[in-house]
Amino acid sequence: MKALITGAAGFMGTNLSIRLLKNPNNKIIGVDSLIRKGSEENLKLFEREKRFKFYQADIDYIEKIIKKTKPDVVYHLAAQVAVTSSVENPKMDFEINALGTLRVVNTASQIKAPVIYTSTNKVYGDNLNKVPTIELVTRYDFGGKLRKKGIGETFSIDAKHHTPYGCSKLTGDIYVRDFGGIVNRCSCMYGVHQHGTSDQGWLSYFAKNKILGKEITIYGDGKQVRDAVRDTDVTRLLEMQGKALLDGRNELRGEVFNVGGGYKNTISLLELCTLWDIKPKFKGWRPSDQKVFYCDTSKADKMLNWRPEIDLKTGLDELFRWTNRNQYT
Ligand SMILES: NC(=O)c1ccc[n+]([C@@H]2O[C@H](COP(=O)([O-])OP(=O)(O)OC[C@H]3O[C@@H](n4cnc5c(N)ncnc54)[C@H](O)[C@@H]3O)[C@@H](O)[C@H]2O)c1
Repeated sequence: MKALITGAAGFMGTNLSIRLLKNPNNKIIGVDSLIRKGSEENLKLFEREKRFKFYQADIDYIEKIIKKTKPDVVYHLAAQVAVTSSVENPKMDFEINALGTLRVVNTASQIKAPVIYTSTNKVYGDNLNKVPTIELVTRYDFGGKLRKKGIGETFSIDAKHHTPYGCSKLTGDIYVRDFGGIVNRCSCMYGVHQHGTSDQGWLSYFAKNKILGKEITIYGDGKQVRDAVRDTDVTRLLEMQGKALLDGRNELRGEVFNVGGGYKNTISLLELCTLWDIKPKFKGWRPSDQKVFYCDTSKADKMLNWRPEIDLKTGLDELFRWTNRNQYT
């Protein structure tokens, strides 16, 4: 297949490119503005790869690139990824995430290339904080029926507070489905070639700061819980979805999947600090932060026979080792 990947030099774009290039029949058209610190380093991995053609371009130019290169499938991963930047500059966030996604799906539909999109659990907004929670010693957890089960795709997206990032990603999410693509609402993804910052990629950021002996700040009380999923598990799913669409599995068009590590791969910030012997500082809660998020991935299991396979402890050890060897960010 000829796959166009937006955000190809980012964390997930790099890992997806690596995976797809393992098949000698695949070609990648990578598009990335390289705005993310660390993306240029990732891009060096493909310097000698003839089947990886790269365009350094902003998402504003995606229409021309799609029309020129005519991919079979488009993986739309490029995004303004930080909630904090979206609060500071919601217009910029909208132009990249919402308008950028409309440009992608509108043009891809003209050449009949399906789009596979990485959305986010932030589309569920503040509604998550209405789910009854219980407070345990080191973490919050869902109470009631969702305990150990997590959030499914039918959970309401009609929330009062999404944050601008949640709004722009949700806009993209709706457009992709409307144009017959596949939406993956991802929770915390982590792994190699990830360059975490204080705003995004917290597991990678904590690892980096621990290794460099830098201060780590937790916003809130640290009992927030997330489910985490390894890059390799997610890229396996994305590859599967691309193949399935090209094989004519049209029942997948317009579908949405919650993608995360699920209950068994949850961790709170405090628990990570204990695991890596981190002594954090604390500040006030960030706007619309979710106390608990973990997803129910049973729909992806049912429709695609996909489930996360890498357990969190093994994955975190690998992340820590990779970050230790790659301290250039
Ligand atoms: N990492 C996570 O935990 C997570 C969780 C939920 C959803 N997501 C979504 O997954 C996708 C990939 O995330 P990631 O962690 O790989 O992020 P990343 O920042 O590592 O990769 C995104 C890439 O997009 C590029 N980019 C940003 N703005 C651009 C623009 N205007 N034009 C062209 N390229 C641009 C960046 O340079 C970067 O290389 C994003 O859509 C993100 O919203 C990520």
